[in-house]
Amino acid sequence: GKNITIAIDGPAGAGKSTIAKKVAEDLSIEYIDTGAMYRALTLKVLKLGLNPESIDDVIDTMKDTSIDFRNNHIYLDDIQVDKEIRENIINKNVSFIAQIKEVREGMVKIQQELARTKSIIMDGRDIGTVVLPDADFKFFLTASVEERACRRYKELLEKGESGISYEQIKEEIENRDRIDSTREIAPLTESKDAYRLDTTNKTIDECVKDIISIVKRG
Ligand code: C5P
Repeated sequence: GKNITIAIDGPAGAGKSTIAKKVAEDLSIEYIDTGAMYRALTLKVLKLGLNPESIDDVIDTMKDTSIDFRNNHIYLDDIQVDKEIRENIINKNVSFIAQIKEVREGMVKIQQELARTKSIIMDGRDIGTVVLPDADFKFFLTASVEERACRRYKELLEKGESGISYEQIKEEIENRDRIDSTREIAPLTESKDAYRLDTTNKTIDECVKDIISIVKRG
């Protein structure tokens, strides 16, 4: 049958990637994590010792960088970087890089190409608004900032990163959301035609079920 496209947007820690991954499995379609792409470029910039706020350096770096997905893993210049892109140093810097016009243009092109020939669920900040404005289904996931910070905090503790407090994480999330929502190009906004799903008091599985029932209803 026809390919189906599902767009998932929302702020940091709303549960987008966990939920999207499960929906993808359930529907046997591909999941594309666009945040991972911005994170991978950020990792490269930091590894080269460059300043993420130096626009020209970031654009130059992007020109000789390859970022792609293979079997649900993210590759930066052919090296798998799933773990490294989740480190807190990346959280702190990624939103500067994601503000840059040329960076966004390059990423959006790759994302649109990935969605062109197959059924996918894609998550990010601008998927329903910019990347896939004609998506079959659009969802906007939210949760209170306290809940989102709490989730991230637990994640970090589970990974054994104990050097950071809940308050610090909350501040970082607020900071990232502020930059993502107020930037000039493709800011995080709630698309009018998106289903809003507040995940604050819901389990992952409840959210997955909600999305799947909407998609199946058609
Ligand atoms: O989704 P995730 O938290 O991994 O995204 C990391 C960062 O990448 C976001 O805070 C945002 O700055 C940027 N991003 C974006 N557009 C997307 C996906 C992510 O600007 N579609």
